[in-house]
Amino acid sequence: MNEFRYKDGALCAEDVPLSLLATELGTPLYVYSYTALAENYRAFDSALAAASQKRLVCYAMKACPTLGVLSALVQLGAGVDTVSAGEIQRARAAGVAPDKIVFSGVGKRADEIAYALEGGLRCFNVESEPELELIAEVAARMKLRAPISVRVNPDVDAATHPYISTGLKANKFGVPVGRARALYRRAQALHSVRIVGLDCHIGSQLTQTRPFTDAIERLIELVEQLREDGIGLESLDLGGGLGIGYEPGASIPSPADYGAAIGKALAPLVALDLTIICEPGRVLVGSAGILLCRTLYVKDGEDKTFVIVDAGMNDLMRPALYDAHHEIIPVEQREQRPFVADVVGPVCETGDFFAHDRTLSQVPLAGDLMAVMSAGAYGFSMSSTYNSRPRAAEVMVRDTRWDVIRDRETMLDLTRGERRPSFI
Ligand code: LLP
Repeated sequence: MNEFRYKDGALCAEDVPLSLLATELGTPLYVYSYTALAENYRAFDSALAAASQKRLVCYAMKACPTLGVLSALVQLGAGVDTVSAGEIQRARAAGVAPDKIVFSGVGKRADEIAYALEGGLRCFNVESEPELELIAEVAARMKLRAPISVRVNPDVDAATHPYISTGLKANKFGVPVGRARALYRRAQALHSVRIVGLDCHIGSQLTQTRPFTDAIERLIELVEQLREDGIGLESLDLGGGLGIGYEPGASIPSPADYGAAIGKALAPLVALDLTIICEPGRVLVGSAGILLCRTLYVKDGEDKTFVIVDAGMNDLMRPALYDAHHEIIPVEQREQRPFVADVVGPVCETGDFFAHDRTLSQVPLAGDLMAVMSAGAYGFSMSSTYNSRPRAAEVMVRDTRWDVIRDRETMLDLTRGERRPSFI
């Protein structure tokens, strides 16, 4: 259910007009709907419940790690998939129980491994042979046993943008499925590690269920080989990756479709009573957030019209980085009259655009507010201060209530921690 809807021609987040938020808090502004987050979480969790008796949704918090968003999901029951000590710190601050924290990523440093072990975690998702050795070494030094899963790379084509495809053998992620058995044997021989599971994540913004079920088939073969070696598992982590519909009418499997597909694919493992872990990011927060911006100028170019807004690629870099599509809709509706333009930001790069040759639903005017839709995932989290632009504020809405969950950065924040060298 979309929680960003028009009421009497005014776009609202739940029951709060976006124009009110823009007046109170300024733009650019990230706006999240609590109800949308909760609905997305419940839809995914119940889809997973249909696939497996024992389950754990570990929110891939890189999608949107802001404490307000994270805490909302944690309170609803989510664990987290983390990829740095910084994310683990945030997870702890949001009150995530240690046994609901998994730690993924190809480049875990020794200090990050120690940090994770100190506070406790459900498992490391080990991505290479040398990483296993380092985890074992750090854990031995701390006189602990590190819980581990091996992230395998099943070599399946996720059929998504090449930058966010992770399960092909050409990608840096995971241990090649053919070498995983040997790595598990090695792990078995290490006293300071404890094998708890098997993991894979094949990519992001997947628009079909087939790559997930292909990956599961490969994992099942490996689970059988491990059983032959006397290695039992507690959990199977299927990663994240389920896509969302950025364009109207896009046909994307729903969480229920996903749950049904993986449930069927996992049938051969039912007797093992594994906990099935998923690491969704986008599907939980993507549609629950928008980027609100204001039109600065409508500029007639030689060949096209540019609608210049006050948010840029530093606020939302998905279009620049992946040529990603985001719907852009007016906050105050006027007479509907199609108008074709490029919607661009103020940053000094041609790559700073939100849409090329987009048909807007009405003629834009300077001062108009615009909503860039489905910006909740990988929106704020990938934002930067490029061009020395302070990062946007974030606000969460629930019914008629709203709370700022992250202050807008100030000019002073921009130079915080910087200094002139003593020798100039
Ligand atoms: N698990 C692992 C190990 C991951 O690396 C990721 C995402 C996820 C789970 C969550 O994937 P999701 O459910 O959100 O698809 N910046 C890109 C997406 C990068 C995804 C990185 N890894 C974008 O804006 O499309």
